[in-house]
Amino acid sequence: MPSILVLNGPNLNLLGLREPAVYGSATLADVEQLCREQAEALELGVDFRQSNHEGVLVDWIQEAGRRMAEGELIGVVFNPGAYTHTSVALHDAIKGASVRLIELHISNVHAREPFRHHSYISPAAAGIVVGLGVAGYEVAIQALARLAYPRAPR
Ligand code: DQA
Repeated sequence: MPSILVLNGPNLNLLGLREPAVYGSATLADVEQLCREQAEALELGVDFRQSNHEGVLVDWIQEAGRRMAEGELIGVVFNPGAYTHTSVALHDAIKGASVRLIELHISNVHAREPFRHHSYISPAAAGIVVGLGVAGYEVAIQALARLAYPRAPR
């Protein structure tokens, strides 16, 4: 069964505890469950990971590129957390590994502080899901499936 990789960057392990007025009350375990249910409905497997370390995320994106080339993975949903706004290394990893990747943010970063308005990830992403809360993970998984398995417009 083809799979997707769901990657979460720094501080997302604190989801549910961290600024609930901004990020909501769902925990990362709740998000994993939601991703598993959405993926199962689309007959996809899920590899769900979180790291606070930029280099670990770079390694996982490179690994995703190899798994995509082998036809085992259809793409990546990536919430890069604060690395969105700082990381040329993650931008380069996504481009270098040629991964199909949806960038995701739980909050509407464009309605927040100006330093959150720029993303190093967006120019390397196939698409972006912003500000839909944790439901955005479901939307991003659906988008990956659509991109991997295009169907006629309705
Ligand atoms: C975030 C938005 C980022 O600006 C922030 O640093 C995060 C979470 C989001 O999901 O809304 O850690 O990516």
